[in-house]
Amino acid sequence: MSHYFDNSPSAASHPEIVEVLLPGDAFDYVSDAGVFSHGQLDAGTKILLSDAPTPPPTGTFLDLGCGAGPITLALARRSPTATVWAIDVNQRALDLTRSNAERLHLTNVKVGAPDDVPDDVVFDLIWSNPPIKVGKDLLHRMLTRWLARLAPNGHAILVVNKNLGSDSLARWLGTEGYEVERLGSRRGYRLLDVWRA
Ligand SMILES: C[S@@+](CC[C@H](N)C(=O)[O-])C[C@H]1O[C@@H](n2cnc3c(N)ncnc32)[C@H](O)[C@@H]1O
Repeated sequence: MSHYFDNSPSAASHPEIVEVLLPGDAFDYVSDAGVFSHGQLDAGTKILLSDAPTPPPTGTFLDLGCGAGPITLALARRSPTATVWAIDVNQRALDLTRSNAERLHLTNVKVGAPDDVPDDVVFDLIWSNPPIKVGKDLLHRMLTRWLARLAPNGHAILVVNKNLGSDSLARWLGTEGYEVERLGSRRGYRLLDVWRA
């Protein structure tokens, strides 16, 4: 069975344009088969992009699990002097995010696999619609790895479906030494603000 988090999707390529309409911004990007939410902006991602606090004007940001790149593109457009890292384990997702950034003439985006991020890079902001479906162990390992890279005053904004365990994830983050504030709850999605306690 194939998954959106496969390293190298086997599904035949079938590019589709997705339009993104946000408060104060509108753009489109190319999605493809074998990459999360082919052909449409995910409802949770839309809530993150619409409801998250305005990102700082500059700094180093991370889109953890970029898929085709909608979060990266929105961040890079809103904060053109920030550097936005886009990482994923799915090669087709990385290729799409890279070409989507080029298509929108965004020069402040760095795209790569998780191990491509140099060890000394820390993040002022992480935005993520995390891959809950990889299972709790992998999800926790991924969050442990990247939340540890938050700058001292850095924040991570996560969108998680309530039915996929947002509240137990928030409790687990609390046990790992993070403060978690629920910024909102809409259409079954929780928007969580996470920072080091
Ligand atoms: C729920 S999707 C979100 C995709 C995109 N950000 C969006 O909002 O449309 C989560 C993404 O995380 C990626 N992913 C899975 N495991 C990962 C890992 N260990 N490190 C980074 N990304 C991972 C998946 O391949 C997938 O593209």
